Amino acid sequence: MEIKQRIDWLRNELHRHNHNYYILNAPEISDQEFDHMMRELQDLEQEHPEYEDPNSPTMRVGSDLNKEFQQVAHQYPMLSLANTYSESEVADFYERVRKGLEGEDFEICCEMKYDGTSISLIYENGRLVQAVTRGDGVQGDDVTANVKTIRCIPLQLPEGDYPAKFEIRGEILMPWSVFEKLNAEREAREEQLFANPRNAASGTLKLQNSKEVARRQLDSYLYYLLGEELPCDGHFENLEKARSWGFKVSEGIKKCKNLQEILDFISYWDVERKNLPVATDGIVLKVNSLRQQRNLGFTAKSPRWAIAYKFQAERALTKLEKVTYQVGRTGVVTPVANLEPVQLAGTIVKRASIHNADVIANLDLHIGDMVYVEKGGEIIPKITGVELSARNVAETEKVVFIDTCPECGAPLVRYEGEAAHYCPNDVACPPQIKGKIEHFISRKAMNIDSLGPETVAMFYNAGFIKDVVGLYDIFYRQGQIQTLDDFYALNPWEFMSLPGFKSKSVLKAMQSVRESLEVPYPRVLFALGIRFVGETIAKILAKAFPSIDKLAEASLHDLLEVEGIGLVIAESIIKYFADERNRDIVNRLKENGLQFETRIDESQSQSTKLAGMSIVISGVFSHHSRDEYKALIEKNGGKNVGSISAKTSFILAGENMGPSKLEKANKLGVKIIGESEFLEMIE
Ligand code: IVH
Repeated sequence: MEIKQRIDWLRNELHRHNHNYYILNAPEISDQEFDHMMRELQDLEQEHPEYEDPNSPTMRVGSDLNKEFQQVAHQYPMLSLANTYSESEVADFYERVRKGLEGEDFEICCEMKYDGTSISLIYENGRLVQAVTRGDGVQGDDVTANVKTIRCIPLQLPEGDYPAKFEIRGEILMPWSVFEKLNAEREAREEQLFANPRNAASGTLKLQNSKEVARRQLDSYLYYLLGEELPCDGHFENLEKARSWGFKVSEGIKKCKNLQEILDFISYWDVERKNLPVATDGIVLKVNSLRQQRNLGFTAKSPRWAIAYKFQAERALTKLEKVTYQVGRTGVVTPVANLEPVQLAGTIVKRASIHNADVIANLDLHIGDMVYVEKGGEIIPKITGVELSARNVAETEKVVFIDTCPECGAPLVRYEGEAAHYCPNDVACPPQIKGKIEHFISRKAMNIDSLGPETVAMFYNAGFIKDVVGLYDIFYRQGQIQTLDDFYALNPWEFMSLPGFKSKSVLKAMQSVRESLEVPYPRVLFALGIRFVGETIAKILAKAFPSIDKLAEASLHDLLEVEGIGLVIAESIIKYFADERNRDIVNRLKENGLQFETRIDESQSQSTKLAGMSIVISGVFSHHSRDEYKALIEKNGGKNVGSISAKTSFILAGENMGPSKLEKANKLGVKIIGESEFLEMIE
């Protein structure tokens, strides 16, 4: 491949993974793979300055800005650390420091590298006044209210010899035990699982509801004290002070006088870390003296006085026995590696995901190969390499991606620009129908919460339902089923023999099916599971086409006229209604009385009192939640925006509005309106 092409490919991939990691909280690759690609790009860019790009992923230190929170500038930028993966790289660092300090004696403070989400805490006169996420390193989100719920973070320090103002940084973590419990609960509620404790911690910190944050029992370790009047010149000594003031500082911290002590610390903790209650992914090495740190200084992205050593992800070598294929709700066909069982990081691994056909091709996978599996940050392990020296050509066979659906036999398709293969048979392919029904009953759709995916699968497999309308036929039958007697009289007797489905469950199911008739039109539209029509698009469509009949009649041109609807969505809607089987489902749902048009009171409840206004919400409220205020603003025709500018109409301020916000508002002359005044404004 041409160098330039390789650089472009790496940049695109890294941009994508950066987005997956920082914005979506859903990484597809391990940190190590990411760092590896980043290094390759850094090297290539250094060798070929002619391909310079000011927007290259190497130029920035990720971003996790979240619009819902107020953004606050860091007093000192929050930089990241350069990574190393081998003892020799650690030795190189040691040597660089030695040279940089021109022969002066120095000590290296070694600490655990905690794998959570970083936080900056500001203390004034011993009180926690602000907690800010890293964000893009220059400014982050003000998550003070959430951080205050974390028990190990002191809100008020007892009397002590701390400076009047200082900042302390550290990592917010979700302990393994809490993470496992949380995921088990999410699984039971059919919610998406967190891939790892790091994502769970950062997701939790960004919740709008701090009560829920409190429930999640986050933990934290602090590892960096900053300020104008720190007590000591040693980083280690400052942390000991911080510990004495009441902060949680790790016990896994040591001042080392030579390289050997550093390497011993690394090998000790590489094993011992497995007994810690929280995730760690390496060791951080810091020059201990702050004076020496200042002498060494910073590069554009990271300090020259510190480095991270990353532990090898645990991996195992095992045999690939066969590749099977799973068909998901949307028809995506995912290859799954079936492996000879092997022990890996505390569990026995039998299966690993291979993502898509490109991965098979890139690895040049053969059945019978000895493959490496890793648990790179994700719950499902994946294949990261093939041990080619162990391949016996006569006994292995190249993996060829299937071309028909393993469930229904339909020829698979691959859309331009997508890595996945799809089964296009969305109206008759069993997992897709089951998936559609599961989606239909889910909480954000029709919320028929008394029926879970297993029950739906059981009904479907037993042949009692063939689509979503089946649920209404069984439990409501256009109003004919009102009592248990009706239910028993109108359903086949075989139904009664289904395991675990006794009269109490039947009654509950009848009730939630009946309640689903009240679900408003936009959610019903979302529940239909039209490809590319998520919650937001469903709301936009319901507003533009106030009944399903109007939507079904809309031409491609009509759809494209609507702001927010692009060609892909428009074509998907046209395709949906062009299929007679879908129109039949909608008609039968209508016969059962589902809401297929906007009710008069819903559209009339809109006012224009805040029309054209951009409103910033800040602080903590007592009458309504932030989300409720957001909804109220939208309902009255206003727009809720994240940051203050000259265009901001006013700030809806609760308690504890951040000082920097206040300053900005004053500077720009933006009006500040309290809760009660706002409520009066909109009545
Ligand atoms: S010190 C300028 N110490 O690793 C140095 N960071 O890539 C600032 N981290 O963003 C960081 N454990 O989130 C430091 N003992 C530790 C750490 C640590 C985890 C994280 C932190 C930082 C990232 C650096």
